[in-house]
Amino acid sequence: MIVIGGLYTVPRRVGTVAVYTDPRTGPNMNVLDIVVLAFWLMLPAYVPNNAAVLTGGGPPIDGGRTWNGKRLLGDGKTWRGTAGGILAGVGLGLVLNAIVTDVSGAIGVSLPEFPIAALLALAAGAMLGDILASFLKRRTGRERGAAFPGIDQLDFVAVSLAVTVVVATDWFVEWFTVPVIVAVLILTPVLHLGTNAAAFKLGLKDEPW
Ligand code: CTP
Ligand code: MG
Repeated sequence: MIVIGGLYTVPRRVGTVAVYTDPRTGPNMNVLDIVVLAFWLMLPAYVPNNAAVLTGGGPPIDGGRTWNGKRLLGDGKTWRGTAGGILAGVGLGLVLNAIVTDVSGAIGVSLPEFPIAALLALAAGAMLGDILASFLKRRTGRERGAAFPGIDQLDFVAVSLAVTVVVATDWFVEWFTVPVIVAVLILTPVLHLGTNAAAFKLGLKDEPW
């Protein structure tokens, strides 16, 4: 990667010469374009956690089971919340697929359509990451709702990207370039803290994280 005059380009080696172009968007892609692309790509992974807060309740996934005297996952991880989260993420992705051409044209950034496998991977991976984080929280003695800085903000990103790279490899490699992943890692904690603080203020969530 190289930055020339505030514009960012991706190098590709042609023979012995490194050519700085981005195969999707022409010669240059600025930082804002990358942030917009990162946000678009992650929307199906961002929505499930928030949707789970709205749809959650009912029987917990762990059925109340404990391990070494601590709950396996806790009452904060329910079947309904998980299903609602995944459906919301996939549903949003289908809406994005329907409007992608219009949005790309309107903002001048070429954005991808989501293959259905990628949608399922992003949404289900996000929920799985959140569930694994709860498992770690219980193992480290944190009660339901306790903060786990770092893990809380990035658990779902790490697992949704990991599942997507396995399930939709070619699509992932085409769109999740290194700069996009860097943007995701910076953008996500900021958005996560912001939306959770808002959900807390609105009385939807018990804690602001
Ligand atoms: N939720 C759910 N199922 C999920 C994830 C979330 O039902 N798979 C709902 C629960 O009502 C949960 C709320 O969304 O209380 C907030 O989610 P989160 O902050 O992830 O859970 P916590 O209650 O904080 O529990 P934990 O400490 O295990 O993260
Ligand atoms: Mg919580």
